[in-house]
Amino acid sequence: MDTYILGIESSCDDTSAAVLKNNKILANVIANQDVHKIYGGVVPELASRAHQQNIIPVVHRALDIAKINKNQLNAIAFTNGPGLLGSLLVGASFAKSFSLALGIPLVEVNHMHAHILAHFIEDEQQPEKPEFPFLCLTVSGGHTQIMLIRDYFDMEVIGQTIDDASGETFDKVAKIMGLPYPGGPMIDKLAREGNPCAIKFPHPKIPGLDFSFSGLKTSVLYYLRDRLREDPDYIEKNKQDISASVQHTIIEILMSKLRKAARETGIRQVAIAGGVSANSGLRQAMLNEREASGWQVYIPKFEYSTDNAAMIAITGYYKFLKGEHAAQDVTPFTRYS
Ligand code: KG4
Ligand code: ZN
Repeated sequence: MDTYILGIESSCDDTSAAVLKNNKILANVIANQDVHKIYGGVVPELASRAHQQNIIPVVHRALDIAKINKNQLNAIAFTNGPGLLGSLLVGASFAKSFSLALGIPLVEVNHMHAHILAHFIEDEQQPEKPEFPFLCLTVSGGHTQIMLIRDYFDMEVIGQTIDDASGETFDKVAKIMGLPYPGGPMIDKLAREGNPCAIKFPHPKIPGLDFSFSGLKTSVLYYLRDRLREDPDYIEKNKQDISASVQHTIIEILMSKLRKAARETGIRQVAIAGGVSANSGLRQAMLNEREASGWQVYIPKFEYSTDNAAMIAITGYYKFLKGEHAAQDVTPFTRYS
């Protein structure tokens, strides 16, 4: 018998609903929230309100696209954290009510777990799935981790940032440069026309498999402050080279630790996940590493890199198969544990 799961994602500023049939996506609808653009970052109160407006239309649309009736659903999976509390509460409350109304199980999903399990969505264009054990560089707006994945539910953080996340670094540098939010995709776009070796930024010396990005952010800030004293139009004239150099440095910091993790664990199956895995430079660096080191690399489809409910639905599916249902009194959490 087929299993249909409705996935709900509302951890930050995207409201998303997806319908999954077994491990195949029938619909993955995402409503972005433009309301934050003028503030240069996500405003939590506005995000909660926008989720409240979007959630029902987004779910309706997903069910329409999937061409299924809500009574065919077997479970509702929702993001229970980490993320913004007000945003999470909207998705969680909706999921609880809908599961009660339909009399079907509720499944809670960890957002970062879901970024990783997005690799297991059945897709004709990407038939190859990672085999256990594999390494996953999980890079998003709030997290930067190297995970050792032994099984769908057995994963260990073997390295992580001690300060800023890599996505946060893209966004903060973009803000310093006066680029619109979210800065990551903007820097990626500008970097394609710039010289990655134009400006040398220092690399942090952090032991083990951990990362640090706050030093890079500060050196970009000081570097630009000094250049702007000589030429007030420096950023405008050099935004491509600045973007390419910053992006190159972030990717080198990430890749050097990923190479170290592969050497130390002897694992050569390596995946990337999370919003920053949409970055064209990081994707290319992974492909280069496949050539250079013979890694088997797994790069998520673009629509499953940044936040989406398809990844929540697939994780919910595996938890549902295990019989891991959530109680109605489950409450969202804001930080990763
Ligand atoms: O996973 P995600 O969509 O949301 C969180 O869970 O945080 O990741 C969002 C982060 C943001 O910092 C955004 O700037 C970054 O991913 N991002 C990118 C790109 N697309 C999204 N960073 C660099 N290059 C991109 N193409
Ligand atoms: Zn995310």
